[in-house]
Amino acid sequence: MSLRYIDQEDYTVAIVGGASGIGLEAARFLNGQGVRVAVLDRNKDGVASAAKELGPKAFGVAVDITDWDQTKAAIDSVAQQFGKIDALVNCAAIVGKTNLPTHEVEIENFDECYRINLRGAFLLSKAVVPHMLKRKYGRILHIASIAGKEGNAGMLAYSATKAGLIGLVKVMGKDYAETGITVNGLAPAVIRTPMVAAMPQQQVDYMTAKIPMKRVGELREAAEMIAWIVSPACSFTTGFTFDLTGGRAVY
Ligand SMILES: NC(=O)c1ccc[n+]([C@@H]2O[C@H](COP(=O)([O-])OP(=O)(O)OC[C@H]3O[C@@H](n4cnc5c(N)ncnc54)[C@H](O)[C@@H]3O)[C@@H](O)[C@H]2O)c1
Repeated sequence: MSLRYIDQEDYTVAIVGGASGIGLEAARFLNGQGVRVAVLDRNKDGVASAAKELGPKAFGVAVDITDWDQTKAAIDSVAQQFGKIDALVNCAAIVGKTNLPTHEVEIENFDECYRINLRGAFLLSKAVVPHMLKRKYGRILHIASIAGKEGNAGMLAYSATKAGLIGLVKVMGKDYAETGITVNGLAPAVIRTPMVAAMPQQQVDYMTAKIPMKRVGELREAAEMIAWIVSPACSFTTGFTFDLTGGRAVY
């Protein structure tokens, strides 16, 4: 049984990358708690099916976060439809090509990871903060990765962009520390999602072997942490990247 983290029925959470994996599970979990959820993702079919599954309190917006105009319009449309945005959870990312040493990483693939994982997070933040500043309240949560804290061999583009994302969270936490807006990150190790299922088994084994609990994390474990971090109760932590690694990172 889960705790009810948010007891305001009009609490509004935009979940980017909400058509799949951790984002979809967070959307289901928060929706189940009675919260109003907007699912944003570039996967149009995934957006439509998530919105349909979540029912009348939810709606979906197709958006590619590499494009500023689309990103701003999508965030503005959530604020307009719901009247406000209390929280933004950014789960959108790609892993890119993995199991490659740095000198074999394609420049195009690095750029693609950068445009989604780091630049996309910046564009989302830039779009949502003005809405939160108006109300002197907000929770922004960017899903980073253990790869950003530790650097996973064979995953240069992903690890480097996730490290950049952790840096973005640190700066934003300080920029808005006196405004009622908190900005945090969450760094999972391996969680059982489609993103992981699509990776080479050798890469998944490498990452799982490093987890002291010797298992992957479950989607539900991620959704529980996300719900609490974006709730009003998580009020004295900002600029921090929380751990979700089964003991791999103890910082
Ligand atoms: N699954 C894991 O083991 C794991 C571990 C560490 C960190 N993470 C992070 O957690 C987050 C969610 O991962 P997941 O495993 O659920 O992934 P996923 O692939 O299941 O979901 C990611 C979603 O992001 C969307 N997306 C990608 N690019 C986009 C863009 N340009 N614009 C809009 N949407 C876009 C995809 O369409 C997809 O629905 C990611 O940030 C990932 O890096 C996952």
